Amino acid sequence: FLVDKGNHRHFMEKEIHEQPEVISHTLANYLDFSTSRVGAFETPFDFAKIDRLAISACGTAYLAGLIGKYWFERYARLPVDIDIASEFRYREMPLSKESAALFISQSGETADTLASLRYCRSEGLPISAIVNVRESTIARESDGIFPTLAGPEIGVASTKAFTCQLSVLAALALKAAKARGRITFEEEVDLVRQLSEAPRYASQVLKLSERIESVARELSHVRHVLYLGRDTNYPLAMEGALKLKEISYIHAEGYAAGELKHGPIALIDEQMPVIVIAPHDHIFEKTVSNMQEVAARGGRIILITDEKGARKATIKTLDTIVMPDVPEFLSPIVYALPIQLLAYHTAVFMGTDVDQPRNLAKSVTVE
Ligand code: G6P
Repeated sequence: FLVDKGNHRHFMEKEIHEQPEVISHTLANYLDFSTSRVGAFETPFDFAKIDRLAISACGTAYLAGLIGKYWFERYARLPVDIDIASEFRYREMPLSKESAALFISQSGETADTLASLRYCRSEGLPISAIVNVRESTIARESDGIFPTLAGPEIGVASTKAFTCQLSVLAALALKAAKARGRITFEEEVDLVRQLSEAPRYASQVLKLSERIESVARELSHVRHVLYLGRDTNYPLAMEGALKLKEISYIHAEGYAAGELKHGPIALIDEQMPVIVIAPHDHIFEKTVSNMQEVAARGGRIILITDEKGARKATIKTLDTIVMPDVPEFLSPIVYALPIQLLAYHTAVFMGTDVDQPRNLAKSVTVE
């Protein structure tokens, strides 16, 4: 069917703005909104009977999987091995017979992800996949699929597919938590209610677009950017850096904030912008100490936080983007949006080809 940009300048912008709607469609597939319970969808293996979950994927889908690892381990106490598919396929990992495999791919055609799937198949593991294209090879070769309902994604840099992958992973983590007896009925209802609010928060964040554009104006003059975060904001820091480098060609790196002292701190000077993703969560104070280390060396901090975080972080920042107060469980879904918007607006200022960045392909079907 016809896919056009509507009123948007680029597909990427349109896809960023579609997120409240597509996250909502995707969640509706896995959650029962009327009862606030996890839905009755089928899984190709029993979460109660596996002892590990092996996730592999490439690019942005890999970073979604990394966030999924935090959720599966925290809420379902299910250990997760997560790999970049091009590493997984060759690293001869011992797989226990009680493991299951989960692949994540927007296109369902990525060569390395498919090769990893076939490896797990030959090892006799049950195979599942989170895919956006239901007719894809990865979907066909899986024992069961968990579709994202993002609709066609045209922009090479993945946006709505990513937040839909996160939505599915969050729902799966709750499914696993329930199957493994790790959450009570009350906790399930509470977490499902929280998750079902994700589209509403996403809409609120879209209203910050102009504010984020003014931050992007600054970024468009720099050569290097460092992104920092802890816990689920660590994969998000990497996703922020990936988005920025993909479409603006500014060199960016995402680091676990606690690793700052083991290397990247050497880069900090008055020129260096450091984007800190730090909602007021259980690990916030630790991230504040990392910001102090950056500030002490003259680094220019751009803080993405909520009101409480902005109040408590008494550190001089170049800029602070104040987000709505989001429950910690779903914060990665919501905090994905400001980093997408920041990369998008920066690339627009720089005049790059946002939807078709140089040297990149939407789907990489060769090794
Ligand atoms: C390419 C795209 C990325 C995507 C990655 C994995 O590099 O440019 O946006 O994240 O492939 O693609 P997949 O279709 O497997 O999610």
